[in-house]
Amino acid sequence: MAERSDLTRPDSKNFRQVLGRLPTGVVIVTGGDPQDPSGLVCGSFMSVSLEPPLVAVSPAKTSSSWPAIEAEGSFCANVLAEGQQDLAQHFAVSGGDKFAGIGWEPAPATGAPILNDVAAWIDCRIYKQIEAGDHWLVLGEVLELSLHRDGGALVFHGGQFHPLS
Ligand SMILES: Cc1cc2nc3c(=O)[nH]c(=O)nc-3n(C[C@H](O)[C@H](O)[C@H](O)COP(=O)(O)O)c2cc1C
Repeated sequence: MAERSDLTRPDSKNFRQVLGRLPTGVVIVTGGDPQDPSGLVCGSFMSVSLEPPLVAVSPAKTSSSWPAIEAEGSFCANVLAEGQQDLAQHFAVSGGDKFAGIGWEPAPATGAPILNDVAAWIDCRIYKQIEAGDHWLVLGEVLELSLHRDGGALVFHGGQFHPLS
């Protein structure tokens, strides 16, 4: 096999730079203790299967929120609308009481938080959790889902948030 040049080697700088060219939606994965919920921003959310209805998300093993969500066995994926960049930044910081001053209601099936004014929500039971390097690959079985609000989505691309109208 040919020697890989430094420019093509999958080190963390190249990996982030190249994968950052792929636009992603922005989701806040919520769940955990209903009295003290947890949540984190994830760009790794995708649909996987229609029958059964499955989605996937990939929380880092270093996530301080994921263990509490995993312990409940369920999560709600909140799809952010354009204009919710501040909410994304708020949930992209580790630690503290992320839900202080944040409006939400419990999702019907699991009780995981549906955040106010999100574009859509997808309420899931954890179907399978697979070890994937320094992350987990989590498959969620969709129990209920809904469009919550009309309008565009929030997109992350090249290290920045963009509205998609
Ligand atoms: C646009 C965007 C996408 C992100 N995607 C992920 C992701 O897919 N998985 C992940 O573990 N962290 C992701 N993060 C980083 C986490 O949101 C961040 O590390 C957060 O502080 C984790 O919080 P926690 O420690 O409370 O779990 C993303 C951050 C941003 C801004």
